Amino acid sequence: MGYGIRVVLVMNRKGGSGKSTLCRALASAAAVRGETVTIFDTDASKSCLKWMQAGQAAGNWSPLVEVIHTLDAHRVAEAIGQIYEQPDQEHLILIDTFGGGSEAQDVLAVAAHRIICPMMLSRGDLSETLETANWYLKLRGRVEKPGELAGFSVLLIIDAVWGLRQGNRRQHWCNSSLKRHRETPE
Ligand SMILES: Nc1ncnc2c1ncn2[C@@H]1O[C@H](COP(=O)(O)OP(=O)(O)OP(=O)(O)O)[C@@H](O)[C@H]1O
Ligand SMILES: [Mg+2]
Repeated sequence: MGYGIRVVLVMNRKGGSGKSTLCRALASAAAVRGETVTIFDTDASKSCLKWMQAGQAAGNWSPLVEVIHTLDAHRVAEAIGQIYEQPDQEHLILIDTFGGGSEAQDVLAVAAHRIICPMMLSRGDLSETLETANWYLKLRGRVEKPGELAGFSVLLIIDAVWGLRQGNRRQHWCNSSLKRHRETPE
């Protein structure tokens, strides 16, 4: 059984909380499953667009994934409407946003099935994640049908690089204790 069309809005008012990285990871996983993926990159920094351009230049890009850069939220909503008009499909639509708040995010949230708010484990991320959650709660009070508004999930990003370093440290500690144990006379 397929998943159909899914629209995921990735947002957190905190810059550098892992939004674009999450979009890229979700897009890659869906493409490996054989799904069509459209990323709407609504950030002026064009992070996801540059990712596609670099992949294409390197000859290492899946034809299933397309990145469309636009700062116009209404254009994103229209383009999603056009995707719905196409016949049955497995299509993951990801919307990458900038680290900040704007009225355009209301339009994007209404078009989404799920809002994912990635955060790193830092005080800055925590307070901005709370701001983002407050925006969502207020939005529920503003929309016509709050029951139909996309759900809001916070995703705690465990820094993979930090985890790896800790793993290496543990491995190193383990190896040196074993060595000490072997070298200690009975
Ligand atoms: N799971 C992860 N493990 C380790 N590093 C990560 C992870 N996710 C993101 N990063 C790193 O954190 C930094 C910020 O990530 P990213 O650009 O995805 O954030 P962003 O929320 O899109 O930022 P902006 O708001 O500026 O667009 C990058 O250097 C990225 O490589
Ligand atoms: Mg980004």
